[in-house]
Amino acid sequence: MHLTREEESVLDGEQGPGAAKCMEILAALGDVYGADRLIPVESVQVAGVSYRTVGEAGLEFLEDLAASGASATVPSRLNPAGMDLERWREMGVPAGFAERQLRVVEAYRSIGVEPACTCTPYYLEEPGLGDHLAWSESSAVSHSNSVLGARTNREGGPSALAAAVVGRTPNYGLHLDENRVPDVRVETGYEPEGTAGYGALGVAAGEALGNRVPVLDLGSPSRDELKSLGAAMASTGSVALYHVEGVTPEVGSMEYEVEETIRVEEPELEVGDDVDLVALGCPHLSGEELRRAAEGLEEVSTPIWLFVSAAVRGLNPEAAEMLEGAGARVFTDTCMVVSPLDEMGYRRVLVDSGKAYTYLPGLTGVEARFASTERCLEVAAGG
Ligand code: F3S
Repeated sequence: MHLTREEESVLDGEQGPGAAKCMEILAALGDVYGADRLIPVESVQVAGVSYRTVGEAGLEFLEDLAASGASATVPSRLNPAGMDLERWREMGVPAGFAERQLRVVEAYRSIGVEPACTCTPYYLEEPGLGDHLAWSESSAVSHSNSVLGARTNREGGPSALAAAVVGRTPNYGLHLDENRVPDVRVETGYEPEGTAGYGALGVAAGEALGNRVPVLDLGSPSRDELKSLGAAMASTGSVALYHVEGVTPEVGSMEYEVEETIRVEEPELEVGDDVDLVALGCPHLSGEELRRAAEGLEEVSTPIWLFVSAAVRGLNPEAAEMLEGAGARVFTDTCMVVSPLDEMGYRRVLVDSGKAYTYLPGLTGVEARFASTERCLEVAAGG
């Protein structure tokens, strides 16, 4: 990959050892994927925040990088951490975990990465059509590529952090027009209902698609439904970009022919009300989802946690207060998948998210049950 003279000087250490290390990561990545050059990015989203995933080695790497003086040069935000950064005691997070989690976030903060801790950074600042990004959480990548028409590969934690410091990313993959064209059509044998229905469809479609770029024939799903669909397709498969005819912004101006059409039926996900926690907000809830939940919940008999970004919670204080008043907990900075639910004593969790349903057993060791959002709220209310 070609580096400009200025980029070479960063690699040679003229901006310090941390920036040199970051340039080294990007140059190696660019060489592996055959990128021609680095391109500027508008923003960065860094995954690898929960202490559960980064561990001691990751914490040490981050503290060393922070000590080297490396600093983000473009707007950069964090993915969810393993706990609500303020209300972790209320969640029941063990103190030892919390101490290390706070150190991870502090290291990122001193590198200049904003601890917004959300997988929905597009609610804080929406990328524009054609913007180049370096984002890493798979649902955020899917949503920004597909629904917003921005361009990002699915970055690993280190490559996103390197992009934050350097302000650039290698030009390959989904940054290039030719890799954004659909190569498979997906038809559904039924009409999905609500965000949960689209999440369930995403579970089945992701399994069938792997890492291809599909075009889907759907009605006119809302943005929240698309968010749920994309998150699930990126969990059972690794779909980082999809198109929906007549809905998503790029497909109408593309010329393409697909060689294959696959038909996806409604999957059978495990249901059941016998749970010790109801958890909503994977991906983090939009303001509208939070307000709708507040209207649909008057009392709580089974614990219910809702996950949002601090920004969305801050913009919807009445909904958050109504939910908390009913006995629910509206946590920020974290989610049901990256927090240590097993260490907090939970065994079975009810979700309305195809992604959470897919990941909970493997990543947290708890069993998952699936239901519509409305049913989740009924179960929380004891119905
Ligand atoms: Fe977000 Fe956690 Fe789901 S990071 S997409 S809420 S698994």
